[in-house]
Amino acid sequence: MTVDAGKVFERMRAHLPPRLALTGSFAGQGAVEASAQGSRVTLSDGRRALDFGSYAVALLGHRHPDVVAAVRAQLDVMPTSTRTLANPAAAEAAAALSGYFGDVLPRVYLGLNGSDTVEVATKLARLVTGRRRVLAVEGAFHGKTLGALALTHRPEFRRGLEGSLAECVHVAADDPDAVERYVRNGDVAALVVEPVQGENGVRALDRRVLAAWCASAGRHGTPVIADEIQCGLRRCGERSLALTWGLPVDAVLVGKPLGGGVVPLSGAVFSERLYRPLTADPFLHSATFGGHPLSCAALPAALRAIEELAPRGRQIETAMRTGLRRIAAVHPHAIAGVRGRGLLWGLDLTGPALAGELMVGLAAAGLLVSPCLSRPTTLRLMPPLVASDADLAEALAVLDAQLTSAARATVASGTQR
Ligand SMILES: Cc1ncc(COP(=O)(O)O)c(C=O)c1O
Repeated sequence: MTVDAGKVFERMRAHLPPRLALTGSFAGQGAVEASAQGSRVTLSDGRRALDFGSYAVALLGHRHPDVVAAVRAQLDVMPTSTRTLANPAAAEAAAALSGYFGDVLPRVYLGLNGSDTVEVATKLARLVTGRRRVLAVEGAFHGKTLGALALTHRPEFRRGLEGSLAECVHVAADDPDAVERYVRNGDVAALVVEPVQGENGVRALDRRVLAAWCASAGRHGTPVIADEIQCGLRRCGERSLALTWGLPVDAVLVGKPLGGGVVPLSGAVFSERLYRPLTADPFLHSATFGGHPLSCAALPAALRAIEELAPRGRQIETAMRTGLRRIAAVHPHAIAGVRGRGLLWGLDLTGPALAGELMVGLAAAGLLVSPCLSRPTTLRLMPPLVASDADLAEALAVLDAQLTSAARATVASGTQR
């Protein structure tokens, strides 16, 4: 299938936010994405790029064969649901998701985007507790729909909407007493935490602080919701960081790679207590495509594939840690820090312009990475579980070379970036 890139950009400029056409044309140097397999994307001009980005969706790479087969089989049978009759794919997906987390949070909600699950979790918490205020953490990203946006911290995303957002207080990430100060008033509906704040530059919250917060919340009847939409499902090594760390949470939210990188799918597992409003009335929170069979068909195959590849994830983590630290040591004028865990790595650049230029330069040189939505100086590198040793070596070499040429350009132009 040939793709006319010029027509793609023309249509984007006419009908989608025009700046998306601009940034896409910079990144692709006039080409667009055309096809993908495994860790590689092929562009419309025939060039190939390693995908260490895709906003954390492509954990299994592209078109993982088991996920594609499961979705194809569902497509051939019944891709959509009557929603009047019970659907086997949705039931199997719910059982698989709960089972994946050891059935400790037995109730399931299935959505299409991460923010869907943030919406339902905070809604249930408010209904169960009869309280309105929610606590989130400074730097948090939980999505951009109005309910989720109330919890997202970055002012640029909230500007002009402050009065339309539900009540949320953001507590300092390093203050173990911060939650106690609020929950003791007995008016906090939920505490929502991201164990590793991906969009905030890949910042892990302190486990001891999280434990102190959860203990405070528990004492005052405040449910705790772990948003692991980005960091869960082995992206940071564990199925769920919150559950592995023994935090007494009432819900874990997942998304991004849950559909195996093939279909849109998100999910949340809940305690019986938090799910109670939906047990009483399933129509309190429903959506036409929630539990869509085509998406649900991907879930068991995706979770199986993630588990099969989990040992490879530990090897990739070691290679990334070693490689990125070495590169940071070689480029101290460009790299201000490296943080990460598992397959989620943040590279702090010395300025936002350099971060933007580097991202475009990397794409042009064959390595796709993602920016951090709440931290413009940090780039995220998210290798897929299917990355080979050669892929990792190539990605690190491209990064090293681009940093070298960025440094040369800075010296040549004398500009402060
Ligand atoms: C931690 C976290 N929560 C929620 C979301 C929102 O997910 P979505 O964009 O799929 O609605 C994201 C997206 O990046 C995320 O990283």
